[in-house]
Amino acid sequence: MLKELDTILTDALAAIEAIADDSALEEARVGFLGKKGRLTVAGAGMKDVPKEDKKAVGQKLNEVRTAITSALEEKKAGLVAAQDAAAFASIDATLPGRPLPQGGLHPLTHVLDEAVSVLRRMGFAIAEGPEIETEWHCFDALNTPEDHPARNERDTFYFENGKLLRTHTSSVQIRTMEKVEPPVRIIAPGSAFRRDEIDATHLSAFHQLEGLYVDKGVTLADLKGTLEFFFREIFGSKTEVRFRPHFFPFTEPSFEVDLKLQATGKAAKWIEIAGCGMVDPAVFDSVNEARKDDAYSPEKISGFAFGMGLDRLAMIMYGIPDLRLLIENDVRFLKQFV
Ligand code: PHE
Repeated sequence: MLKELDTILTDALAAIEAIADDSALEEARVGFLGKKGRLTVAGAGMKDVPKEDKKAVGQKLNEVRTAITSALEEKKAGLVAAQDAAAFASIDATLPGRPLPQGGLHPLTHVLDEAVSVLRRMGFAIAEGPEIETEWHCFDALNTPEDHPARNERDTFYFENGKLLRTHTSSVQIRTMEKVEPPVRIIAPGSAFRRDEIDATHLSAFHQLEGLYVDKGVTLADLKGTLEFFFREIFGSKTEVRFRPHFFPFTEPSFEVDLKLQATGKAAKWIEIAGCGMVDPAVFDSVNEARKDDAYSPEKISGFAFGMGLDRLAMIMYGIPDLRLLIENDVRFLKQFV
């Protein structure tokens, strides 16, 4: 029996050595270790082995099984490695990868992110309001009389139900004050809509950034300081900022803000960039009327507001000559801002 086991081992190792694929490997496993395999059959002869030899024969049987099993495993690993090598042989690992097309942010998003990050550092929180507005939030509460030209059908998009597309983000001032008590320190970026003839400097849908600060003892000095700091953060610390008296129904006094900017190769020029002013007491009265309290009593608090065109800001920051480029979605244009 011991001799027979040796023969089986020799045969098995030779057979395994010669194997070249998975199916031959399986065949050999079944042929030696399977239910009717040679080793299994030989093992069944144990019962006829004399008692005193059983231990030695049993040991031998185990040794042979272990040897055949590990030879099979080794062969299996060898076959897998050979298959992998064959698969990789057709791949040139030194070839550079194929780049995936990568998207980028729209220039307006860049401008907005930058503006918002400066104002947030100054403690302004973001507020929102709907683009479809009531006349109350867009005009009445903002002290804009019935016959004001901005309310004209030719300038504003009206819906049949009397609502309208907001003509400015100033409506968010009212919505915010109706909801929360002072102090209020918010910015509201968003779309605004006007029935303008579309050209290089006008779009019927554009973007604004509104600001509102209401608290005890807010003064014009706070307004000037805030906007000067803001524009110098964006355009550089030496940027000259000018406040020019103007009129808005919802602020008193009101100003337009100009920046002295120099495009490369051109003479420095004053460019109008924002509207602002001290919140008109009539606006606070409207807010109190809607709130049914006097949280915004002009006797107790004061505030400033500002609004600027983000599209215009983008034009200046990036030297974009025509606003329409911002909405055409021409990839050749957009790619420059990635
Ligand atoms: N809403 C004004 C506009 O669209 C800008 C503005 C905002 C002016 C806040 C003063 C205060 O032109």
